[in-house]
Amino acid sequence: MEVIIVPAAPDVGSAAAGIISRLVAAKPGAILGLATGASVERVYAGLVLAHGRNALDFSGVTTFNLDEYVGLARSHPASFHAFMEEHFLGRVNIDRRRVHFPPTEGGDLPVACEKFEHDIRAAGGIDLQLLGIGRDGHLGFNEPTSSLASRTRIKTLTSATREANRSRFGEKEVPLHVVTMGIGTILEARHCLLVADGPAKADAVARMVEGPLSAMVPASALQMHPRATIIVDEAAAAALSLRDYYREIQRNKPGWQQ
Ligand code: GLP
Repeated sequence: MEVIIVPAAPDVGSAAAGIISRLVAAKPGAILGLATGASVERVYAGLVLAHGRNALDFSGVTTFNLDEYVGLARSHPASFHAFMEEHFLGRVNIDRRRVHFPPTEGGDLPVACEKFEHDIRAAGGIDLQLLGIGRDGHLGFNEPTSSLASRTRIKTLTSATREANRSRFGEKEVPLHVVTMGIGTILEARHCLLVADGPAKADAVARMVEGPLSAMVPASALQMHPRATIIVDEAAAAALSLRDYYREIQRNKPGWQQ
C-alpha cells in the first residue's frame, strides 16, 4: 500500500484528481470505477476543472459505479445516479453509452448483477477504481463481514451506515438494500485509489492500513492488492502508527517511482 498524507481535505481531492487526470490523458479509453460520497466530491471537482481548463477529454472513457440503492428512483436527489450527475457526469463530455451503474431495478437482480460483472470484463477490466471508506471500514457498500471474495450482489445496510447517509434523504427513509460491487470485484481493478479526510475516518483508515486483514474491516482487503494508493489528510492519518515512515517514503521516492 502506498499511503500519501497531505495537509487538508482539498489537497486529498486535488492529488487524487491529478492521478486520474494523468491516467485519462495517457489512456483516453480508460475504464474508471467510480464512487460516491462527500470524500470524492473534491476529486470530481478537480476532474471537472481539468476538463474545463486543460480540455481533459472524457469522451472515450468508460465508467462503472460501485453501488446504488435498491428501490430508489434514479431521479431522487439521494440516489447515486443523481450524485454522479451533479458532480461529474453532467459536467464533462462523457459518452452516456459508456456509463454503467450496478442494477437496482427489474425482476431478477442476481442475474443482472452477473451481467454487470460480465460488462466490466468485456470492457477490459477496470484500470482505476476510486474509493472512499465508511466509518466502519466498508468499501462500496460491503459492510463488515462481507466476504473478501464477494462479487456484485444485493447487500443489507447496517443501521450505522443508513444513519451516516441520511442527510441526503430528507424525510424519506434510507433504503435497507443496495447493490454493490463485491470486494473480489474491487480487488480486480488494476489500481485502487482510496481517499479519506477528517477525524471521523481516522480509526477506519488505521484499521485498513495497519490492522489485521479481516472481513470485519472490508477495506483491509486492499492490503492484498498489488497497487493500492491511499490519500488521506492529516486528520484522517492521525491514528496511523507509522505515519512518519509514510511521510519519509514520499519525501524519498526514487525518480522512477514518481
Ligand atoms: C457510502 C458509499 C461508500 C463511501 C462511503 C463514505 O457508504 N457507498 O462508497 O465510501 O459512503 O462516504 P463519505 O465520503 O460521504 O464519508
